[in-house]
Amino acid sequence: MDEFGFIDRTDSNAEKHTLKQKLFGTNDVMPMWVADMDIATPSCILDAVRHRLEHPIIGYEIMREQAYKAQCDWVEHNHAWKIEVDWLSYSPSVVASIGCAIRAFSDEGDEVIVQSPVYPPFYDMVRNNNRKLVLNPLVHDDQGEYRFDLEDLKAKITPNTKLLLLCSPHNPVGRVWSREELLSLGELCTQKGIIIISDEVHCDIVFSENKHIPLASLSQKLSESTVTLIGPGKTFNMAGFSISTVIIASSVLRERYRSEQHKMHFGDGAVLSHVAFEAAYAQGHTWHKNLMEHLNANRRMIEQWCAGHPVIGFRKPEGTYLAWLDCRALKMGDRELRNFFVNEAGLGLSAGLSFGKEGSGFMRLNFAVAREVLVRALEQLSRALEKNGYG
Ligand SMILES: Cc1ncc(COP(=O)(O)O)c(C=O)c1O
Repeated sequence: MDEFGFIDRTDSNAEKHTLKQKLFGTNDVMPMWVADMDIATPSCILDAVRHRLEHPIIGYEIMREQAYKAQCDWVEHNHAWKIEVDWLSYSPSVVASIGCAIRAFSDEGDEVIVQSPVYPPFYDMVRNNNRKLVLNPLVHDDQGEYRFDLEDLKAKITPNTKLLLLCSPHNPVGRVWSREELLSLGELCTQKGIIIISDEVHCDIVFSENKHIPLASLSQKLSESTVTLIGPGKTFNMAGFSISTVIIASSVLRERYRSEQHKMHFGDGAVLSHVAFEAAYAQGHTWHKNLMEHLNANRRMIEQWCAGHPVIGFRKPEGTYLAWLDCRALKMGDRELRNFFVNEAGLGLSAGLSFGKEGSGFMRLNFAVAREVLVRALEQLSRALEKNGYG
């Protein structure tokens, strides 16, 4: 059996399918939006959970130290960052951790920097917690490359600026930030006393010509002023287990974070998630390596397709399984563009505009699918373009 072959999720209550009608006005689209994979969760995880189910009681349990140790080993092995079990806290979701960190490290009315375009809950977490959203848009250069705009950032920092939310690797633009880029951003923030909440949930989906560098691993100062969010959800396609980790090296910041977390009584999560978490980090290496080969081949297929359809601009993502398609040459408004993808191409993608106004004219395609699904999606898009005179 092809480990990364087609799996029908239509009747599985997958969000990708259940929300099709609501989001796209029809069920007749291939859903390539929400960022989970249409790829089987590794069998080492499913087997570990099945094994645990042989015990007839599913009660309260706490995370075993060896589960966290497996994650520490994974991070050291894959990202050359030595972390300690004591630094880790359980969280049911990375987005929840962002909210909790915002509450722990700022007060209502304080300013929080967000680098747009970005994963939409970044904005929600700032606004829903009554902090002031300050946008520091990424620069999009003539080659289609996105970069930090440090001059703009410098100009926007005030004494009320407390936090910066970093997305690393970046969803949706697919950048894996370089050491130099991270250092210059990090140094500016540490100079100004700004804590960085670094969402690194995509850290393991990085293609071989790039290297993910955990921000907190770059210097002692950054280690002391960074809150790092990671988890097995994206890496091993196990978002449904609702488990992730907050890494804080500074004991002072850690105590502040935990005291906020205790107000919400997250506890330690659910036993089946603990089991899945440990199996993933302890046994998932080979599966992960094969996954990256599969995703890389899909990425290459999109690149080749775009080379033959220059009206769709594409810069290969350095990380993530998300293709950020530049559709501006189609000269459609955002609503028209979305309708074109849904009604003409039969594809349910994420509209670029949902990531911020800088995303206008873009569409995000999730390519973590079986090869034949991607082939079909690109064929549908080719036909729709041809029909509209863009052949
Ligand atoms: C950058 C980023 N952070 C967080 C999440 C969601 O994480 P969780 O489901 O653990 O809240 C996503 C999901 O797409 C994401 O892209």
